[in-house]
Amino acid sequence: MSTRMELASTVVEDAVSPGPSAGLAGSAGSSAIFEIQDLNVYYRDFHAVTDTSLNIYQNEITALIGPSGCGKSTVLRCLNRMNDLIDGARVEGRVTYHGIDLYGSSVDPVEVRRRVGMVFQKPNPFPKSIYENIVFGPRVAGWKGNFDDLVEETLVRAALWDEVKDKLENSAFDLSGGQQQRLCIARAIATSPDVVLMDEPCSALDPIATYRIETLMRELKKQYTIVVVTHNMQQAARVSDRTAFFSVDVGEEGQRTGRLVEYDMTDRVFTAPSMKETEDYITGRFG
Ligand SMILES: Nc1ncnc2c1ncn2[C@@H]1O[C@H](COP(=O)(O)OP(=O)(O)O)[C@@H](O)[C@H]1O
Ligand SMILES: [Mg+2]
Repeated sequence: MSTRMELASTVVEDAVSPGPSAGLAGSAGSSAIFEIQDLNVYYRDFHAVTDTSLNIYQNEITALIGPSGCGKSTVLRCLNRMNDLIDGARVEGRVTYHGIDLYGSSVDPVEVRRRVGMVFQKPNPFPKSIYENIVFGPRVAGWKGNFDDLVEETLVRAALWDEVKDKLENSAFDLSGGQQQRLCIARAIATSPDVVLMDEPCSALDPIATYRIETLMRELKKQYTIVVVTHNMQQAARVSDRTAFFSVDVGEEGQRTGRLVEYDMTDRVFTAPSMKETEDYITGRFG
């Protein structure tokens, strides 16, 4: 366990060096881990997201909801610099992570992605064994420790251990969709991130597998910060602490730009939203 924490602190120092790494990992409470200020994102000359400001708080689940194309995935990808990998994508504004400019010139995006992991809509395990899926990232990162212990600990944490402990050498593709998604969550936490981003993690899963992922998310937030994109409003209402509702403005020439409408505690967004647009959306009167 202690060696894993060393990996975490090494990575933090690498990612943000020189930075206030002391105390970054694991202090409980509602401090902002990300601060997004006046975020604008473009894909070439297409303005995808406009003037978005919001904070993401530690050890909470933050849900991003809104109609298709409103920029939820785009905003999510800004939190671990995944948009860097998209040709033509341009991010303006300020995103800080533990107070550090995430887009600053001294920040290594590869290290950022190790600290801020990602889980996608379609489970995408590597075409390798269950065991190898877990150890791959830590091994690439040069982690030195007991890999067997790491695999067990990580799979226990991802609520998958009991189902796979006797077949760790089997292909990850032998697992069900829901198990594959929990394996992807396990893979994301194997490198000791402090944030896990999830982009519609249950969209390809049946209700029982979805329920298990939601249970897991609630468990994981004790240790990690989670930001989840979901088109399922019930899911947002069930699992998240805060909800950000985005909408789309259609310009004169049909261009569609995403905009943050309302961001508040989830209870409030779903029971007493302050914007009519939010109310229309959550009551199904949208569109
Ligand atoms: N790689 C890309 N290149 C060009 N346009 C993109 C790309 N990804 C997303 N977009 C556009 O940006 C807008 C926001 O997309 P996205 O963030 O995926 O929305 P959401 O996740 O809310 O459905 C959409 O109009 C989408 O077509
Ligand atoms: Mg999306």
